[in-house]
Amino acid sequence: MLAQNEFEETRRQYDFINQCREYVNKKSEAMGRPLSACIVTFGCQMNARDSEKLAGILGEMGYVITDSEDADFVIYNTCTVRENANLKVYGRLGHLKSIKQKRPGMIIALCGCMMQEEAVVEKIKQSHKHVDIVFGTHNIYKLAELLKAHIESGSMIIDIWKDTDRIVEDLPVERKYAFKTGINIMFGCNNFCSYCIVPYVRGRERSRNAEDIIKEIKQAVSEGVLEVMLLGQNVNSYGKDLANPKTFANLLTEIEKIDGLKRIRFMTSHPKDLSDELIEVMGNSKKISRHLHLPLQSGSSRILTAMNRHYTKEDFLILADKIKVACPDISLTTDIIVGFPGETNEDFLETLDVVQKVGFSSAYTFIYSKRTGTPAATMAKQVPEDVIKERFSRLLEVVQHEASLLAKQQVGSIQEVLVEEVNTHDDQMMTGRLSNNLIVHFSGRKDLIGQIIQVNLLECKGFYYIGEQIQP
Ligand code: SAH
Ligand code: SF4
Ligand code: F3S
Repeated sequence: MLAQNEFEETRRQYDFINQCREYVNKKSEAMGRPLSACIVTFGCQMNARDSEKLAGILGEMGYVITDSEDADFVIYNTCTVRENANLKVYGRLGHLKSIKQKRPGMIIALCGCMMQEEAVVEKIKQSHKHVDIVFGTHNIYKLAELLKAHIESGSMIIDIWKDTDRIVEDLPVERKYAFKTGINIMFGCNNFCSYCIVPYVRGRERSRNAEDIIKEIKQAVSEGVLEVMLLGQNVNSYGKDLANPKTFANLLTEIEKIDGLKRIRFMTSHPKDLSDELIEVMGNSKKISRHLHLPLQSGSSRILTAMNRHYTKEDFLILADKIKVACPDISLTTDIIVGFPGETNEDFLETLDVVQKVGFSSAYTFIYSKRTGTPAATMAKQVPEDVIKERFSRLLEVVQHEASLLAKQQVGSIQEVLVEEVNTHDDQMMTGRLSNNLIVHFSGRKDLIGQIIQVNLLECKGFYYIGEQIQP
């Protein structure tokens, strides 16, 4: 249910969209061609979903969405979780400048997590004057309003909010895939892990009402979606902030009942908040995928305390075991940071130990990146780069070894596969995803895209399979 002022806001934004559509129509008539828009997304699934919302608004305004940055309107939806994410954006902004010089009237907008940092916005104002619109993570729904302000003033429009308690529903979205979609169930993060910038750039936790989530999923399913990915920085604390508190497990149980929906995924689960109730729901579910992403970050209890993660090595191992007992065929994946300040070789060996004991089907491994403003940035004993690099490659070796052992165990089994696309290297082959999130390539027709079919896993190539479709 929408609060009255949120409903009004949706209406206001549709007015701006209509006004921008007039501008787009006029320009396009004058130029004798449609206007194009390109969104470049950096970072995580949250940003990917935000980009679908931006694409929805652009589409309503009459822009044709393209992959090429040689477009009339280019938006960079940025990430700042690690420094290299940040540097990438500056690098590409220089390239955009040269495109704009050859393309009068081109509009450039920057949004997303990086823009929530004051120093970044200052730098854009000073050194990247070819940027036209700057907005943040809390007000992406205002795209049309900001575009209109820019068109009218001709100057750089900057609109960044520090935080918000607002969730504006029912604006247009343009899904990247017809058969699967991300669904935000909550925004923001309250955890303040000591290395992480996300709580500063995404604000405090806000859960969407279950009714709104279910309505959105039902609508998507009626349009052909089979799989949803429920999105939140810590989905396990979903609902705690609602007027009528609700658990994530309750929400999943309701989503499970939606007819026509075949698969449910979610991201990300913080180990400290993963309840027995959730494990039980997962164990009994027919639709929740056999995959759980459970970020470990470090296997050393000492480092976990310094990271402000609120669990120990032993807690994590016990939790992983509980999940495997309830869901024996589950595949666990994780995130690990190497080189957190003060990490000793003994701490690092604890991380390797957890990786070996749990057996992750894959792990995203990151070199610790100092983020200004986070507590870890000023901690003593930052680890030297060469030590980090050496640990990083040792970790990668163990992770890959464990992952390929696990993947091999599935060879010879027949699995349900959601066919996602034509193989990028061989157009006679199709690529699909198993419930456990691994990929399989098999020979098949294009019209299988968006269907769930049975595939026999013939051969394991480390992180993916070659398979054969079982004819129905
Ligand atoms: N909310 C999610 C993570 C979002 S960020 C969670 O709690 O798991 C995705 C991953 O980036 C994190 O899990 C962490 O492993 C990594 N990360 C975050 N900040 C980082 C930093 N400063 N340096 C290196 N990796 C970082
Ligand atoms: Fe960052 Fe921790 Fe929040 Fe994840 S839970 S977004 S790692 S602060
Ligand atoms: Fe990056 Fe923001 Fe996601 S910082 S990882 S895009 S929440």
